[in-house]
Amino acid sequence: MNGDYLRNEALVAGLLAVGEIRNVKVVVCPPFPYISQVASLMTQSLIDVGAQNICLYKDGAYTGEVSATMLQDLGCGWVIVGHSERRTLFGEGDDVIAGKVAVALEAGLQPILCVGETLLERESGLAFDVVGRQLDAVANHIGNARIAELVVAYEPVWAIGTGKTATPEQVQTMHAYVRAHLGRGGGKADSVRILYGGSVTAANAPVLFAQDDVDGALVGGASLQADGFLAICMAAV
Ligand code: PGA
Repeated sequence: MNGDYLRNEALVAGLLAVGEIRNVKVVVCPPFPYISQVASLMTQSLIDVGAQNICLYKDGAYTGEVSATMLQDLGCGWVIVGHSERRTLFGEGDDVIAGKVAVALEAGLQPILCVGETLLERESGLAFDVVGRQLDAVANHIGNARIAELVVAYEPVWAIGTGKTATPEQVQTMHAYVRAHLGRGGGKADSVRILYGGSVTAANAPVLFAQDDVDGALVGGASLQADGFLAICMAAV
């Protein structure tokens, strides 16, 4: 819930000032009210626009919700599903998140499925169990045949917005686990893009991107400054 009309305009202008960023897919996911503003400023660019949430239901009497079709009408091709703030602050459980992933896929929107453990879960040795459970909920719902269509973001909750980044070793170990876990039931997980999120900055992006199973980043705070965000994008090229 960052940004406003004027700041968005300046941020997008900063992103577009460098010209096209090639060989890396860049997606920006503004809050709902600003999606059409940002999408219209981006029309001539290679940058895609996405949303931060989606309704579990296709249409009907769901006051305050935003459907997949509405997001597509606004110009979205992507949607973040199951961000830890949705899980912890807004009570979205594994089943709801799995349903949202299915709704997005059905509509032809690319879901970015967020998974990750809390600090307590990591310290209790439960990080892999938790992430495995979060992945299983989605795999069971959409079926192994559709695993290849996912983009997954591993975001340890303790690293989001805290300035604490997981170490490159912790990230690589979990990403390899995510890939192996997704492939367990015969799903094609080799080409699934697995992003890391949690206090990614221009300074730590290169070492994170150097890990074998890190295919990109989900960037929060550092995306609010064009220079810092562009430096992260360039580190991914
Ligand atoms: P951060 O946020 O980069 O500020 O830690 C990540 C996120 O919100 O997913």
